Amino acid sequence: MKLLTTPQEMQALALTWKGEGLTVGLVPTMGWFHEGHLSLMRKARAIADKVIVTLFVNPIQFAPTEDLDNYPHDLERDRSLAEAEGVDVLYAPDVDGMYPEDFKTSVRVSGLTTGLCGASRPGHFDGVTTVVAKLFNQTLPHVAVFGEKDFQQLAVIRQMVRDLDFPIEIIGHPIVREQSGLAMSSRNSYLKEDEMDAAHSLSKAIVSAKNLLKQDASHSPEQVKEEAARVIVSHPQCSIDYVEIVDRTSLQPCDRISPESMLVLAVKINQRIRLIDNSLLIT
Ligand code: PAF
Repeated sequence: MKLLTTPQEMQALALTWKGEGLTVGLVPTMGWFHEGHLSLMRKARAIADKVIVTLFVNPIQFAPTEDLDNYPHDLERDRSLAEAEGVDVLYAPDVDGMYPEDFKTSVRVSGLTTGLCGASRPGHFDGVTTVVAKLFNQTLPHVAVFGEKDFQQLAVIRQMVRDLDFPIEIIGHPIVREQSGLAMSSRNSYLKEDEMDAAHSLSKAIVSAKNLLKQDASHSPEQVKEEAARVIVSHPQCSIDYVEIVDRTSLQPCDRISPESMLVLAVKINQRIRLIDNSLLIT
């Protein structure tokens, strides 16, 4: 596996592969790989001739009050995990290479970015779409694989790809969970032993909301949200950022539950760690 660090060398290699008629699969990440990331790499490995994994902790998608400085990072650890998955290139540019002093462009998707995580993290999605557009241009993939845990991010990226005519197929890959139900996330590494029960309240809320609907499918979105919120706030270390039921494509609130309805959650643990989770309600 090659380790590349500059946009120029990355793009040159991607162009060579394209010239040879090879298909390129991309997995964009911020590193500190867990089984969720590895499953995205396996998916890309199964469908493309060449697999590029990007590792870049993108400063412009973090607000000044967020965890940019503490974001877990270990290049050697990630390098050996990616290599074991048969990745061809680990592309880990530095901040100056990505955003030189005279960098002036931002990519913004409107509408889809205002609610949910966009409401509590203003500017976050502009940072995501800007860096993903750059990564697409640097790696020139045919297909890019993103995790469904960041469900709003996936919808926003699909919209950007449509709107800007990127010739890239976007694949969403299912959430990978710990045996306990906790959705895998690099941010789980912030959790202390005595915060694990609180972290489990997100997946428990999803199970409880689904069970309510199994008992009686006519429950309203409000009733289902109340049930999910009840499970979360029963834990004193949890505070709700949002509990919503939205249409899986438009991300607009649902006025009745349907097979397209998604329960989406963001919860702060001890005001310190923000976790997200989601699930279709009727599966
Ligand atoms: O999901 C992530 O890890 C990041 O938001 C992404 C897509 C790599 C952009 O920095």
